[in-house]
Amino acid sequence: MNAPARIPGANRTLTDELIERRSNAFSRGMSPGQPVFASKAKNSELWDVEGRRYIDFGGGIAVLNTGHRHPKVMKRVYDQLERYTHTCLMVTPYEPAVQLAEKLNEIAPMSGPKKTMLVTTGAEAVENAIKIARAATGRSDVVVFSGAFHGRTLLAMAMTGKVVPYKTKFGPFPPGIWRVPYPIEHKGFSVDDTFDALQWLFKTDADPKAVAAIVVEPVQGEGGFYVAPPQFLRRLRELCDEHGILLIADEIQTGFGRTGKWFAMEHFGVEPDLVTTAKSLAGGFPLAAVVGKAAIMDAPEPGGLGGTYAGNPVACAAALGVVEAFETENLLEKSLKQGELITKRLRSIRRRRQGRPIGDIRGLGGMTAFELVTEHGGGEPDAAAAKALSADCLERGLMILTCGVFGETVRLLAPLTIQPKVMKEGLDILEEALLNPKG
Ligand SMILES: Cc1ncc(COP(=O)(O)O)c(C=O)c1O
Repeated sequence: MNAPARIPGANRTLTDELIERRSNAFSRGMSPGQPVFASKAKNSELWDVEGRRYIDFGGGIAVLNTGHRHPKVMKRVYDQLERYTHTCLMVTPYEPAVQLAEKLNEIAPMSGPKKTMLVTTGAEAVENAIKIARAATGRSDVVVFSGAFHGRTLLAMAMTGKVVPYKTKFGPFPPGIWRVPYPIEHKGFSVDDTFDALQWLFKTDADPKAVAAIVVEPVQGEGGFYVAPPQFLRRLRELCDEHGILLIADEIQTGFGRTGKWFAMEHFGVEPDLVTTAKSLAGGFPLAAVVGKAAIMDAPEPGGLGGTYAGNPVACAAALGVVEAFETENLLEKSLKQGELITKRLRSIRRRRQGRPIGDIRGLGGMTAFELVTEHGGGEPDAAAAKALSADCLERGLMILTCGVFGETVRLLAPLTIQPKVMKEGLDILEEALLNPKG
């Protein structure tokens, strides 16, 4: 990678200067991110202010299934910018939002009549799903899972199942949030363990008749890309039906085509009552949605849902561009192919038992991840190795993200639109950094 340019007359780079200004200007609560300041980006490539090029396998945390500035997204955005950028959906509505809601109702993973509500961020979608579930059931409580990530606002944070850094110093948390283990066989939690814990919970702490919803990620995202065992989701559906509890699928990370279906729940043949989506929904513009069975979605009183920027017209136009890209470029199928390609490559690297030891490799379609462990063939998580790998890859021109309750997991979220030669280049860098580590 080229050496960055020095600032004329100073012994440091523009990046050094921006790091210092950023750290002075921002709360330290906002993670500093990587030492790369973006200058421009296109599809799967990003250039920083020094002119260095990176291949982006992180997608700004799972937002870029259609890549940076997809032409179909940008065309709709530019057209929309020429017309109006804000009127407030609840004051002066507009067609792009209606068209998007109709499309979401068509593709959401449940049968029967459906309705949508739009907001701006994933956490807002989660919070609104809970409001809707409470209004529909007349109940208050919520059951969630260890390792879950549902957002950073107060209720969504309380629902999140990872303490550091998301919950540290931020308590007390709202009452009525109950947690049981997510079934992860190789971490010692079976599906039966989860259901035993639920039965205990319903006997000892939470009256199931007070539970409005169980919220589940069909593949845990921040928690480590753990794919739900199909029988876990099937049994959850049965349990919800038995007790009149709503099943909410949080598909903010798994949704919008990442796993090779519009929504990951489709892989399991289990219908949730409500689904949340955000991130890749609008290809880089802030937009989120709750979609669900019409009777449930209509439970809140008029005016009870919304927000000043809810369903911003530019973001809705972008989302329609994302839908068009998926439908005309075979992106769902490309997700499945991407998953197969990456998994095969990672398995062959692991077989060599050289360099940084790889543990479990997992995923669903193009939502893939692998663990770094302390020794070849072992299972002890190695968060330091995952962090070092990420820094090493960055140095070599590839952006990857870590995740996982133990910080040992590396997730790979290349755009589904990535050109094969760039994908190969990215995987070659990853392989080199795994087999011949620097740093
Ligand atoms: C499953 C899930 N739910 C909710 C959220 C919160 O979304 P946002 O950061 O847009 O508020 C995230 C973000 O990573 C997520 O992965």
